[in-house]
Amino acid sequence: MICESIIMNIDLALEKNQTSKPKFSKKFKKFYIESYGCQMNFADSEVVASIVENEGYNSTSNANDADLILLNTCSIRDKAEQTVRKRLKSFNKLKKENKFLKVGVLGCMAERLKTKFLEEEKIVDLVVGPDAYKDLPNLIREVNDGKNAVNVILSRDETYGDINPVRLSSNGVSAFVSITRGCDNMCTFCVVPFTRGRERSRDPKSILNEIDDLVKKNYKEITLLGQNVDSYLWYGGGLKKDFKKISEFRKKTSVNFAKLLKVVAESFPKTRIRFSTSNPQDMSLEVIKTMSQYKNVCNHIHLPVQSGSDKVLKAMNRQHTRSEYLNLIKSIKKFLPNCSISQDIITGFPNESDEDHELTLDLMNKVKYDFGYMFKYSKRPGTLAFKKYDDNIPENIKQKRLQNIVELQQKHSFYRTNQYVGTIVEVLIEKESKKSSLQWSGRNEQNTVVVFDKGDYKVGEFVNVLITNCTSATLIGKAVNYSKN
Ligand code: 5AD
Ligand code: SF4
Repeated sequence: MICESIIMNIDLALEKNQTSKPKFSKKFKKFYIESYGCQMNFADSEVVASIVENEGYNSTSNANDADLILLNTCSIRDKAEQTVRKRLKSFNKLKKENKFLKVGVLGCMAERLKTKFLEEEKIVDLVVGPDAYKDLPNLIREVNDGKNAVNVILSRDETYGDINPVRLSSNGVSAFVSITRGCDNMCTFCVVPFTRGRERSRDPKSILNEIDDLVKKNYKEITLLGQNVDSYLWYGGGLKKDFKKISEFRKKTSVNFAKLLKVVAESFPKTRIRFSTSNPQDMSLEVIKTMSQYKNVCNHIHLPVQSGSDKVLKAMNRQHTRSEYLNLIKSIKKFLPNCSISQDIITGFPNESDEDHELTLDLMNKVKYDFGYMFKYSKRPGTLAFKKYDDNIPENIKQKRLQNIVELQQKHSFYRTNQYVGTIVEVLIEKESKKSSLQWSGRNEQNTVVVFDKGDYKVGEFVNVLITNCTSATLIGKAVNYSKN
């Protein structure tokens, strides 16, 4: 049963979106935007597209046609930054051919490098950090006047809740809705707290409005996004860290992630609800129980662990131990026996010994994750790990350890997918399968890809599929009928 105070709080009488109308009736310029890195960046690009369209630009999927090229960049690892730099160089020819073409960099790399970006990459005219997108109209005018423009000011309260994102290259079925920005965790390896600023939550009304709009446009799956969704906390706006200072009344009427999830699940019962990313120390039993109460909240949790060794977790400033993490997994499995769990793991963190690495493998064997994302440690300037520790694990050892965990993950993924063979799963059809134009591709609620013969089914439909075969990453089956949805 939904708590009345939450309904009152969030005011389920959904208000109309408040985005202003374009200032220009005649659209004449074109912008091209490319996104790198996490889902958050992809969601941000849709906010940027909305702002830029309001400035009289039309989007194009071809950089050659554009008057304005925007790269929404990622700084999480050095390799991600190198990819962006290479991509920028590839626009040199276009820029020489069209002296009116402007090139802008957005996102984490823009925030990290600031004006240095203009010096290091001569092609760049515009540098805009993740909290400064509303200033884009002014900044674009400046670059069109022949100047360079930079705004990398981080904000205490910007959540873009009043912007109605333009869905870019969308399949019309699934969409991201951001609910928090920034991160206060300060994991020692991570550049995100420096590039995306302090953690703040978005007004639940604006979240519900955005989902309502998507549902009316026939979207079937929503992913609530944040660096740390479980620490969502709405008390009228402001930084998460300032919550301590507010009155008891405001504390009582605040909305945490479990409450938000509850309201979203109840308000949109036919829509699949996902969320990402969860942080082990913030994921509460209340959230797990809420997931178990609503069929439309998908049974999948992305729960990065980073390492299986307490020594390494401590050096990473993770706020959980190995045993706390394993206890959380136990609770998840207790309340959500069919829940899939995925991981992020870093290998080769400074001073990681063979024993530490073995502990990570051991933890993986205990959890048997459904899938995961694994990385070699990459030192990031400005982070505590960069300042405090020597990046002292040789590249060949980092690589070998990475290979070990990737192979083990593949084994576990296959173990997990195999368990579906012979069962019927509900699939939301998203697109044509990459391997065959005769097959659809979608995902089950556990987030595993399922492919099956198209038949008369269409994109956006929920179908029951009998799983007949699998690889470590994909379930293969045949449609048996429409699902109840
Ligand atoms: N080096 C390698 N991987 C990193 N991640 C974050 N920072 C680094 C880094 N410096 C990984 C973490 C995180 C994911 C998004 O990226 O595993 O969970
Ligand atoms: Fe980075 Fe840690 Fe925040 Fe994730 S929780 S964004 S790894 S600081």
